[in-house]
Amino acid sequence: MDTIPAAARNGGSMKDTLLKRFAEVFGDAEGARVYFAPGRVNLIGEHTDYNGGHVFPCALTIGTYGVARKRADDKLRFYSMNFEKLGVIESSLEDLKPSKDAGWTNYPKGVMWAFGEKGMKVPHGMDLMLFGNIPNGSGLSSSASVEVLTGYILKEFFGFEVSNQDIALIGQYSENNFNMVNCGIMDQFAIAMGRKNCAIFLDTADLSFEYAPIALEGAKIVIASSNKKRGLGDSKYNERRSECETALAELQGEIEIASLGDLDEETFEKHKSAIHSDVRRKRAKHAVYENRRTIRAVEALKRNDVAEFGQLMNASHVSLRDDYEVTGIELDTLVEEAWKVPGVIGSRMTGAGFGGCTVSIVKDESIDTFIEQVGKAYEAKIGYVADFYVVEIGDGPVEL
Ligand code: GLA
Repeated sequence: MDTIPAAARNGGSMKDTLLKRFAEVFGDAEGARVYFAPGRVNLIGEHTDYNGGHVFPCALTIGTYGVARKRADDKLRFYSMNFEKLGVIESSLEDLKPSKDAGWTNYPKGVMWAFGEKGMKVPHGMDLMLFGNIPNGSGLSSSASVEVLTGYILKEFFGFEVSNQDIALIGQYSENNFNMVNCGIMDQFAIAMGRKNCAIFLDTADLSFEYAPIALEGAKIVIASSNKKRGLGDSKYNERRSECETALAELQGEIEIASLGDLDEETFEKHKSAIHSDVRRKRAKHAVYENRRTIRAVEALKRNDVAEFGQLMNASHVSLRDDYEVTGIELDTLVEEAWKVPGVIGSRMTGAGFGGCTVSIVKDESIDTFIEQVGKAYEAKIGYVADFYVVEIGDGPVEL
């Protein structure tokens, strides 16, 4: 079956390792089931998903593994192999409230809470052990991966009638209303709906989408993680979002639009003076132009014009740097150094920004040089190393 992630196809050894660890942590592994949900990378269409625009992300073969077992009572016992020092964190279905002390368990708890809010009260507790192989804090959506994984497990365990798209929406709802990050739908959608070797061209205005095969002949997707801690990222994210909302309200005084995604470049230029601040005008400009770039990028890909796709990726970065101002010296260094390497078709920051990682399309024969050259320049300028990952596009959530 091609829905099984590579690590598990590998003689099932990943599954055995996880079950063994689960037994060590929780006494035995009787009745435990093993699941996987991917991480994601966005190829183009950044900060457009909460502006009614298009995005073009794909699921990865790296992600989050979860071993889960139903309980007869309403206890919740959580354990993460990525945070072993925290030990087993206990809670219960009676206590589905966000708390700082709960750390990473706020993500699965948020999803359990969100199911309840949507009329699907979780009837029993569970033991849940996670193991993520998405690089920590890299902006490849480890939190959305945990959310979709949890939703998928709840559906499988308790027979809730939800589609993968519903799981994505519930995950986003929990992120917005439990973890208080006002994110759009891109991450959860890309993860829940992932398909091997395809990116998802999603119109966030109405959730219509199509799968676009990514057949990069002679090139690969390389992710560079800046290793910069996100820090104030979440509050800046919410700030950008509200700047766009205000700009939209100002434009709506002049033209009838439902979102910034309704505008093409010309119409925006004609009406942009309705926005009464330079900063907000720049933010809105990015949202409008980035959406159009995304549409054009997918058209280019359909024509097999990978060079044009790369140029649009580069332009996306410039816009995120100059107009949206979410890059910072770390991501700019990674991208600007990447642009210097022959064989780099395109390179840009990906995800929310303010740290996290970049995505580049690099010709096979240039990958080693790319990693060496960009890595050296980055360390020299920033003072610590970047990490590089050649990634593959994988499927959505699955039971192993
Ligand atoms: C984060 C959010 C997404 C999206 C991106 C920026 O990853 O979770 O919804 O807004 O940032 O494109």
